[in-house]
Amino acid sequence: MPERAHILICAGAACISAGEESFKSALEKELKEAKIYEEVKIIETGCFGTCDLGPVMVIYPEGIFYIRLKPQDARDIVNEHLLKGRVVERLLVREPELKIFLPTINELPFFKNQVRIALRNVGFIDPLNIEEYIAREGYSALGKVLTEMTPEEVIEEVKKSGLRGRGGAGFPTGIKWELGRKAKGDEKYIICNADEGDPGAFMDRSILEGDPHSVIEGMLIGAYAIGAKKGFVYIRAEYPLAIKRLTYALEQAKSYGLLGENILGTNFSFDIEIRIGAGAFVCGEETALIASVEGKRGMPRPRPPFPVNSGLWNKPTVINNVETWANIPEIILKGADWFSSLGTEKSKGTKVFALAGKINMTGLIEVPMGITLREIVYDIGGGIPEGRKFKAVQIGGPAGGCIPAEYLDTPVDYESITSLGAIMGSGGLIVMDEDNCMVDVAKFFLSFTQDESCGKCVPCRVGTKRMLEILDKITKGDGEIRDLEELEDLANVIKNTSLCGLGKGAPNPVLTTLKYFRDEYIAHIKDKKCPAKSCIALIHYEVIREKCRKCSICFKNCPVGAIFKDYDGTYVINQEKCTKCGICFQICPFKVIKKE
Ligand SMILES: Cc1cc2nc3c(=O)[nH]c(=O)nc-3n(C[C@H](O)[C@H](O)[C@H](O)COP(=O)(O)O)c2cc1C
Ligand code: SF4
Ligand code: SF4
Ligand code: FES
Repeated sequence: MPERAHILICAGAACISAGEESFKSALEKELKEAKIYEEVKIIETGCFGTCDLGPVMVIYPEGIFYIRLKPQDARDIVNEHLLKGRVVERLLVREPELKIFLPTINELPFFKNQVRIALRNVGFIDPLNIEEYIAREGYSALGKVLTEMTPEEVIEEVKKSGLRGRGGAGFPTGIKWELGRKAKGDEKYIICNADEGDPGAFMDRSILEGDPHSVIEGMLIGAYAIGAKKGFVYIRAEYPLAIKRLTYALEQAKSYGLLGENILGTNFSFDIEIRIGAGAFVCGEETALIASVEGKRGMPRPRPPFPVNSGLWNKPTVINNVETWANIPEIILKGADWFSSLGTEKSKGTKVFALAGKINMTGLIEVPMGITLREIVYDIGGGIPEGRKFKAVQIGGPAGGCIPAEYLDTPVDYESITSLGAIMGSGGLIVMDEDNCMVDVAKFFLSFTQDESCGKCVPCRVGTKRMLEILDKITKGDGEIRDLEELEDLANVIKNTSLCGLGKGAPNPVLTTLKYFRDEYIAHIKDKKCPAKSCIALIHYEVIREKCRKCSICFKNCPVGAIFKDYDGTYVINQEKCTKCGICFQICPFKVIKKE
């Protein structure tokens, strides 16, 4: 019997925590009651990218995209959409500007402007079904390299594609593989770095949750190219769903003869094991990661020797990021020329970003290199909520930097982003509006790196602490102008003398905010004011007495009893008692409490 509909429901971690499982059960129940359960195929996929709208699903053949699904919506979907062919309007995405509903997934600007290579299957296939991966040309690239290409030809193709490592530094992948192939040693290893420690980042997790076979296939091709027999995926324990799906995918691949001895009947043998990390940010650094896989404490060591020559158990080891591996099968299948036709002169292909912060559409996107920040923020992300003003974008994670509005037209490629003092990083992109204090943003990232410093070298361990103390002083209104010079001096010493990228990159958020938002630092120091009205020590709330309507709502809701009724019936805030929680400011129905 031909199927009435195919339903793809997102079963990514965000949609699951938003209630995907109970919605799916309700949907199945309604389908059974309507006696059409057998006519509808439900597929649980990985993340669509629109996590903020979850749980989400698409109904094919039309491609109708429904959002924020609750169990009670299942009945309308079955009775209206599936039985009567009427779209359930209230569950569609609404375009606020145009005041129209966007029924199909292809109409959403969020998807229209993306180019998906690493995410090609994420949100389209059931990650627990290897057949679905195979149906979308999965493992064809492996077949091609094992039967038609020499390892050297594979390396040449990857070199020609211009692919650069997506884990942060952007080192050319083909060159790394060539070094790995040429390195002396009869035992060699492959590692997939799935540590993903940047705050708010979930690119690698989504790939592993939504399309684990693309990473396995990429690793198989890499292993063939360099001559490795064993590979490891290093993944943090905080990613249980990704671990579960990857474990399942590895078993499936083994049962299909795609992992293990004599793969696809050739004399190539390779196996992959998972290693679970405890979630220290520094363990994403390749030498610390290798130490952790070896069972030692995860601490970086000086390079050289680089892992390609002396890595795991001192053997040649090629380590690449999840997204890097996921790109490989497509490069082999479609060719280096196709891949390098996307992007800019020195940054080829696409990049996956996790969009977060003050942006209408938060979520996961994949865009061609060279796209501008403006296109990402406005065309894909839908701009800033409530029409507020864009202030900056923090790109590159804790070692990245803040790029201000005047550089919104900068193309997103390795060189352009670095020239502004930030880094491409692994794909964290946090948008900020006028309510974000840039001194506070710098403090947030520095306190993250200071917490995560492994403590091996003094500039990183102690220097970041001193910088943090200064930032703390400034946000409390106790800063002095000479503190800015001291911040810059310390930042330069830490950058130049730290052993690993954690210390070397830690001062970047401070340096970029000092460069682009120095006025804000000066306002905190000289005027004792936080222009964004965000630093608690520098703000205060006050009732505009002549406008107060004496409703007493603020008085009743202040959690510390800091508001009292004055002789004329208006309300007044006792500044000594006020903890600046801001509840009165938010709750006053007449908006007559000012924040300064
Ligand atoms: C502190 C620190 C944390 C890192 N964390 C990660 C990470 O979570 N994932 C990752 O792929 N690379 C991370 N890297 C980069 C790795 O050291 C390494 O360069 C990368 O895995 C190489 O893969 P690629 O060439 O495919 O990017 C980190 C580097 C540093 C200094
Ligand atoms: S720079 Fe920091 S994190 Fe890196 S080795 Fe030194 S102390 Fe450890
Ligand atoms: S909530 Fe506003 S209007 Fe009401 S008493 Fe407080 S300040 Fe006055
Ligand atoms: S987890 Fe469902 S859209 Fe991202």
